[in-house]
Amino acid sequence: MNSLLVGLAFVASVLAEGRTSAPDGCLNVAQSGGDYSTIQSAVDSLSTTSSDAQCVFVNPGTYSEQVLVSARSAQLTFYGYTDDTTSYADNQATISYNLSQADGLSNDLTGTLRIKATNFKMYNINVNNGYGEGSQAIALSAYADSGYYGCAFTGFQDTLLSNVGNQYYAGCMIQGATDYIFGQEAAAWFEQCDLRVLARSLGYITANGEDTADGTSIYVLNNCDIAAADGNTVPEGAYYLGRPWGDHAKVVFQNTAMSAVINEDGWHIWNTGDERTDNVLFGEYNNSGVGAAGPRVDFATILDSAYAIADVLGDGYASAGYYDASYL
Ligand SMILES: *[C@@H]1O[C@H](CO)[C@@H](O)[C@H](O)[C@H]1NC(C)=O
Ligand SMILES: *[C@@H]1O[C@H](CO)[C@@H](O)[C@H](O)[C@H]1NC(C)=O
Repeated sequence: MNSLLVGLAFVASVLAEGRTSAPDGCLNVAQSGGDYSTIQSAVDSLSTTSSDAQCVFVNPGTYSEQVLVSARSAQLTFYGYTDDTTSYADNQATISYNLSQADGLSNDLTGTLRIKATNFKMYNINVNNGYGEGSQAIALSAYADSGYYGCAFTGFQDTLLSNVGNQYYAGCMIQGATDYIFGQEAAAWFEQCDLRVLARSLGYITANGEDTADGTSIYVLNNCDIAAADGNTVPEGAYYLGRPWGDHAKVVFQNTAMSAVINEDGWHIWNTGDERTDNVLFGEYNNSGVGAAGPRVDFATILDSAYAIADVLGDGYASAGYYDASYL
């Protein structure tokens, strides 16, 4: 390595800031030696009626538990242990569980992490549903205005249920194979997220479930990057940007790099005989890479301009409790 590269690597390592102990005032969760040994027991110790800000710090380890964050008056934040808060890559705290609809549960009840608390925020924690192929098995089930920063969400089918409220995902990784960002009412903005796809001959990244003309749901993915997951060999063209769970599905990919895993058609019908494509908005603007090339299907829209974040999260988003402008 030449000295310039060594110098740059040194500067990068100095700039990378970690979070290796509990921020002031946070409950301390650790597999041994903390105040709480499970995340759920820490959450359950917090008041749901007090409006004083709450936070929970999670030390390294894989926490095999399902976590429900119920509605509360306070703004609650989860922080995970990491040597570099600016990305998900060095996260050392993982919540993992394996429930699926094969257990007779609703989508939400399969979620490894279930969020019902308005203005919830989470930094540098990985959330996994380890069930694998065969049934709906949610990692994150988000039913509230909420923000996620430097987090990784992994599963196979239906990894991320973005269902209710305004949601912001920044610098996150979201991985799966089938309909793995989906939900019915949420408006969600994904900024600089890595979308990773698993080895498979056919898959869909999004399945937006909006089913009314004046509905609120839309997913906009801005400055993201689509590629095969580490260690996965994915055939060219195996994946679609989305298919319409609801017949007014709205999904936009913009300023996003798409590797050859994305099919030239771009988008897919729901199912043969039940296409649901007449009223969708499947938009694209200024994407790049082999997967962005097309020609796209006739129900795709090439937009004249990019969506603005306020178009999705509303004019007041910058002062919303879940939104952290300083991240990224
Ligand atoms: C979840 O499933 C994986 C395999 O997919 C297995 O290794 C792990 O032990 C399971 N975890 C639980 C908590 O059942
Ligand atoms: C297009 O996207 C790239 C990122 O891939 C960005 O740098 C550039 O500014 C965008 N151009 C327009 C016109 O938005």
